[in-house]
Amino acid sequence: VELKEYLKTNAARIEKRLGELVATDCSALHSTLFEAARYSLLGHGKRLRPMLALATTEMLGGDLNAALSPACTLEMVHTYSLIHDDLPSMDDDDFRRGKESLHKAYDEATAILTGDYLITYAFEVIATAPGLTAEQRLALITTLSQRSGGDGMIAGQIADMASEDKVSSLEVLKQIHYNKTSALIAASIEFGAIVADVSRDVSAKLREFGYIIGLAFQIVDDILDVTSTTETLGKPAQSDIENKKSTYVSLLGLEDARRRATELITTASELLEEIPYDTSRLAAISEMILNRAS
Ligand code: IPE
Ligand code: IPE
Ligand code: MG
Ligand code: MG
Ligand code: MG
Repeated sequence: VELKEYLKTNAARIEKRLGELVATDCSALHSTLFEAARYSLLGHGKRLRPMLALATTEMLGGDLNAALSPACTLEMVHTYSLIHDDLPSMDDDDFRRGKESLHKAYDEATAILTGDYLITYAFEVIATAPGLTAEQRLALITTLSQRSGGDGMIAGQIADMASEDKVSSLEVLKQIHYNKTSALIAASIEFGAIVADVSRDVSAKLREFGYIIGLAFQIVDDILDVTSTTETLGKPAQSDIENKKSTYVSLLGLEDARRRATELITTASELLEEIPYDTSRLAAISEMILNRAS
């Protein structure tokens, strides 16, 4: 199947399952929580992380039905990270996914609590997911908690905040990007390896691939912050400049930042060649990371 078609079909499957998992229970006294979660979760997102999980599962011959709910938990954790990332005390951004950020559309308390709900619920979904062994569920929970936690995304986010108004070295910035962005993208690929039960060797190579494309993804995000518009991005352009963040663009300039991202995608596709499966779909998705407009 052609890539565009593949992405469209899978985004629809992911969004349908997300909608089922976070249902609107209007009878609940706390129905606002689910409405708010759906507002952010079902807004226009690229679904990159669950897409990578499904593509990896398919490549490795794993059970796609069993992979779907775990894949959706990656989108829940990602969406929670965006909701909190936009808060006034963090990046203070009022637009996300083409509409008002959650703390604007609702209020700050709702945004904080909706993030809390999405991350806790993600683990419940994995713990109770059908079609997986107890070992697989445990491995998914371990991977997701490690990649999104204090040695992963949160480590990156706190270092990112601490680095505002300062100039970081490229080495430090790379570490921040690895943590805040690559870790969850690596987890997405690792999810496929867990569902398909592949060897440690293949799994380790795939994780490395995930970290590398994740870094490229964040470099492109830094580039788009400068070169694109709020309308195209669906989130405020120039946000990094306003917050005085060190980025690949501020440290290297646009041209070198772009070159760096291109080199990383080349390295990533070389890594894929070492894996004894048909890696063409993953290669195509990683190319897309480089050429995306939003
Ligand atoms: C934005 O992620 C945050 C970063 C890690 C750069 P995405 O660009 O994947 O955002 P959505 O999911 O498409 O909205
Ligand atoms: C955030 O990076 C990565 C997260 C873990 C949310 P950014 O702060 O650059 O993401 P955007 O540009 O707001 O989407
Ligand atoms: Mg941020
Ligand atoms: Mg931000
Ligand atoms: Mg950004």
